[in-house]
Amino acid sequence: MILFENVTKTYPRTTRPALDDVSLEIPRGEFAFVVGTSGSGKSTLMQLVMKEQDATRGRILVAGRELDRLPERKVPALRREIGCVFQDFRLLPNKTVFQNVAYALQVLGSSRARIRQTVPETLELVGLAGMEKRLPHQLSGGEQQRVAIARAFVNRPPVLLADEPTGNLDPDTSLGIVQLLDRINRTGTTVVMATHDTVTVNAMRKRVIRLDRGVLVSDMEAGDYTTGSIPRVRLDDDPGEAPRPLGATPDLADGYDDADPTAYGDGDDLDGDPDALPPIGRDADEPRPRGGIFRRHKAAQTSNR
Ligand SMILES: Nc1ncnc2c1ncn2[C@@H]1O[C@H](COP(=O)(O)OP(=O)(O)OP(=O)(O)O)[C@@H](O)[C@H]1O
Ligand SMILES: [Mg+2]
Repeated sequence: MILFENVTKTYPRTTRPALDDVSLEIPRGEFAFVVGTSGSGKSTLMQLVMKEQDATRGRILVAGRELDRLPERKVPALRREIGCVFQDFRLLPNKTVFQNVAYALQVLGSSRARIRQTVPETLELVGLAGMEKRLPHQLSGGEQQRVAIARAFVNRPPVLLADEPTGNLDPDTSLGIVQLLDRINRTGTTVVMATHDTVTVNAMRKRVIRLDRGVLVSDMEAGDYTTGSIPRVRLDDDPGEAPRPLGATPDLADGYDDADPTAYGDGDDLDGDPDALPPIGRDADEPRPRGGIFRRHKAAQTSNR
């Protein structure tokens, strides 16, 4: 779905690249976090996927399109396939919740009938049923971000990029937002989320791609912000050596399922049918039990030593 091959991005009038020879692949349907300190290149990576910036070197493929060969006139079609969510929500302040979400369909030329059907379905999916008539200033930050997610997802794009979507939210609200992105991911949409939010990253146990000053320094499956667990790319190792399986892995799977088997199902393929979406239930409102997470974290630390 997203492929970077030796991608370097150097902004004009800068000496150090914002992204430096980055190679990665994010398959269709994956949920990946992109982490790293401020200035490490997370937003640059997102902007390259959107073709808001062009790579200086290397090759980028998104949804089957080779971006450096994509003519300008085809960029809008690319962007229709990528929903975007930002730290500052970016809602239209004088439009209601319904109108903010409907707007995304209007600009695509959707019929009124489709808008009348799809907007309420999407608002229900994000947990905002009944709030259609409110203005953004009548919502909490978390609710505003849910509107922004509904707007990004209302046309069911195959890719959703979220750049620090929880940056302005408290920890509990943040977890609810990431769980919502997880639910969207389980409809088949590939989700890439840039974040500094260690608690959330550790709680979700998804793939974690870490950048440091533009360099991809680690890529972990079911990763942990601080230690990671299962190396996906062992950059510092002999390429012939197989990834080291952590003794804790089977235990992890147990911890994962035990922790909340209902919240992390087997990946429904819902084909955009919102009626088939998992209900907004306990995982939207309650933090997940952490037992499995801590067990895994501890096990990973032990096996790393
Ligand atoms: N438009 C630009 N022109 C010049 N330099 C830029 C531009 N955008 C970003 N940079 C530089 O590129 C590097 C990476 O920036 P980027 O915004 O991608 O980092 P980030 O990881 O998203 O940081 P943050 O966590 O603060 O959002 C930084 O050194 C930044 O100063
Ligand atoms: Mg950024």
